[in-house]
Amino acid sequence: MKNIQNITSDLIYLGVSDRKLSLFEAVYPVPEGVSYNSYLLKDEKTVLFDTVDKHCFEQFFENLEAGLDGKNLDYLVINHLEPDHSALIKEVIEKYKNIKIVCSQKAKQMLFQFFDFDFDIENNFVVVKEGDVLSTGKHELTFMMAPMVHWPEVMVTYDKTDKIIFSADAFGSFGALNGNIFDCEVDFASKIDEYRRYYSNIVGKYGTQVNMLLNKAKNLEIKTICPLHGLILKENISNIVEYYSKWASYTPELNSVLIAYASVYGGTQNSAEILAFELAKKGVKNIKMYDVSMTHYSYILSDAFKYSHIVLASPTYNNCIFVKMEQFLSDIVAHNLQNRTFAIIENGSWACNCGDNIKKTLENLKDVKFIEDKLTIKSTLKENQISELEKLASEIVNDLK
Ligand code: FEO
Repeated sequence: MKNIQNITSDLIYLGVSDRKLSLFEAVYPVPEGVSYNSYLLKDEKTVLFDTVDKHCFEQFFENLEAGLDGKNLDYLVINHLEPDHSALIKEVIEKYKNIKIVCSQKAKQMLFQFFDFDFDIENNFVVVKEGDVLSTGKHELTFMMAPMVHWPEVMVTYDKTDKIIFSADAFGSFGALNGNIFDCEVDFASKIDEYRRYYSNIVGKYGTQVNMLLNKAKNLEIKTICPLHGLILKENISNIVEYYSKWASYTPELNSVLIAYASVYGGTQNSAEILAFELAKKGVKNIKMYDVSMTHYSYILSDAFKYSHIVLASPTYNNCIFVKMEQFLSDIVAHNLQNRTFAIIENGSWACNCGDNIKKTLENLKDVKFIEDKLTIKSTLKENQISELEKLASEIVNDLK
């Protein structure tokens, strides 16, 4: 049964929400599901913007047919070729054989990496480049390249007529849509954590490229953002652009402390907890703590994009960093986090060396610094080390100022 909704009189939401998926991209937990957004513009010509993930096949085609309501499908715009959006492209093309496929040169090349077609589709392509315009009747669509937001073939499409930007992965979020497809229909502020987790984990590495897209968007009047995941944005456009400006430039949102610790038998955790109390006593607010063994690293990375100061507390393990902490650090490096201050608590019952290894892992990130004195404990924190811990807390607080 069709499940579609009008965005404007000419634009229909065809997307599908998935609440069965446990790991998005086989990596990220999505406890509140995820939506794959697809849109149909009905002008003199009809235009489909992207498709959905393959297991949403049936619902998508019911939606598409209902949206077309007997009309032919003239154009397929491929803004992003990642399979969560492109999985049904082959079926769309084989169903609407005369369809024009509008995409970047890179997307055309990559399309054949993913699909083999039963007939020659060379003449179906309309390959576009930066600034190219397509008129569909009343609507004028302009294409802007957005490479590496999140893949190299990505472009975004601007509908000048209704001031709508089809933003591909940009401005998306984890979380299924629950009837309310617009930001103005939900408590948007409560959603920001999942926007940040999506941004930091999916496109966080590509801040420079996101900034380039933000600069292009600055020159456009935008009334609606139609992303490939999550809510359609109308009321919170300047709000989300402001968040994106911070995230893309690796500017912390909060001048406070994130403590990520690993602890096998409790000694390291105890030190981290005492440090947290000490920081609180010294006036630090909104301290956040994670046990890296217990929380998926995508959540901790998201808060690493939020917080200015990060304390890393870890036991030595296999003569190096504890495995779960090592995984978190490698995620920080992979996502190119910058402009942060780190402090270190290291633990080692013998041959303690993880502090130096933590520093070595992170020191080449851009604009990072380390609180000079790390705290070293042997198995457990001792009473005579409290002054050292207080000193570490003081140095962090001084740096926060
Ligand atoms: Fe939702 Fe990069 O795909």
